[in-house]
Amino acid sequence: MSVCIASTKRARWTFNVKTWQPTEAQFLLASACVQEEEKARIGRFVFKNDAKATLIGRLMMRKFVSSTSGIPYSEVKFWREEKGKPYVLNPVVNFNISHDGDHVVLAGEEVSTKVGVDVMRLEHRSGTGVEEFFRTMSRQFTAEEWECIRGKSLPSKQLATFYRHWCLKESYLKALGMSITSLGRYGFKTEEPDLRVGTVARGTRVYVDGILADNWCFEETMLDEDHCVAVALSKSTADCSQDHCLFHFLDFEQLMKGSEPILQPDLEYTRNFFAKNEKIIRPIASILDTNDKN
Ligand SMILES: CC(C)(COP(=O)(O)OP(=O)(O)OC[C@H]1O[C@@H](n2cnc3c(N)ncnc32)[C@H](O)[C@@H]1OP(=O)(O)O)[C@@H](O)C(=O)NCCC(=O)NCCS
Repeated sequence: MSVCIASTKRARWTFNVKTWQPTEAQFLLASACVQEEEKARIGRFVFKNDAKATLIGRLMMRKFVSSTSGIPYSEVKFWREEKGKPYVLNPVVNFNISHDGDHVVLAGEEVSTKVGVDVMRLEHRSGTGVEEFFRTMSRQFTAEEWECIRGKSLPSKQLATFYRHWCLKESYLKALGMSITSLGRYGFKTEEPDLRVGTVARGTRVYVDGILADNWCFEETMLDEDHCVAVALSKSTADCSQDHCLFHFLDFEQLMKGSEPILQPDLEYTRNFFAKNEKIIRPIASILDTNDKN
């Protein structure tokens, strides 16, 4: 299965922010390569993980746009649509990023294809049991989706299937640049029962208010045992079947190759970053199947 590379105007990239423990020099460089208002936003995050993830997402976008469009790295300017989706003027590519858990991902495509991406760490985020959590989410999924979720035997598998569907919904709405609302209107029918690391599932279809939207296709995979990802593409399934795109893991050197600072290095900002704490996250399988009686 091929890996997508930027020179084709298509990319599936992921960066592990957990394993990236930046040196002061790396952080100084990275934080000088984002727009001023984004640097300020990143500086306001309480936790180091959130600051790192947001920073890396912005750097991925800049690398993708500059390497596919021929715009010099430091001259790429990002704007935001009304609901927050970043874009560039006169685009030759479309792109979207997502960050959750240990990963930041970018999906990029030719300008003719709308693209949305969502990554989720399989993590039990609610203080309640799985059944109680599902009850609070009941209106966000269709009856068929609940059947698919509840059809799994273990609570951890049910939650993994829940997150799989959640990712699909978010990827679709993000491709359209919408906010994450009225999720119950978008029903997903999956073909492959489970997602696996190293393979891309492409059999999933979306139904909007019960009607098949056959000009959309989806790529789904597991980045590792704890993170699922979905990419929504405004392409027919026939066109989509040409593409087998696995996510390519970037490291910091690859991410920064060809970079050029757009701001002055900021030592005080860098020290503030290193003074922040990491947020602790626990994956679901370790806590649910042993504790949850639902
Ligand atoms: C952003 C949103 C779409 C997804 O949130 P999420 O799952 O927590 O976040 P993800 O990590 O998957 O994606 C976040 C990234 O998607 C992009 N993004 C932001 N809004 C987006 C949108 N509406 N559609 C597509 N992509 C969006 C951004 O690049 C963002 O990262 P960045 O802000 O660090 O650059 C969701 O929070 C939402 O519904 N926002 C709408 C808010 C709104 O309506 N605002 C009105 C104007 S104030």
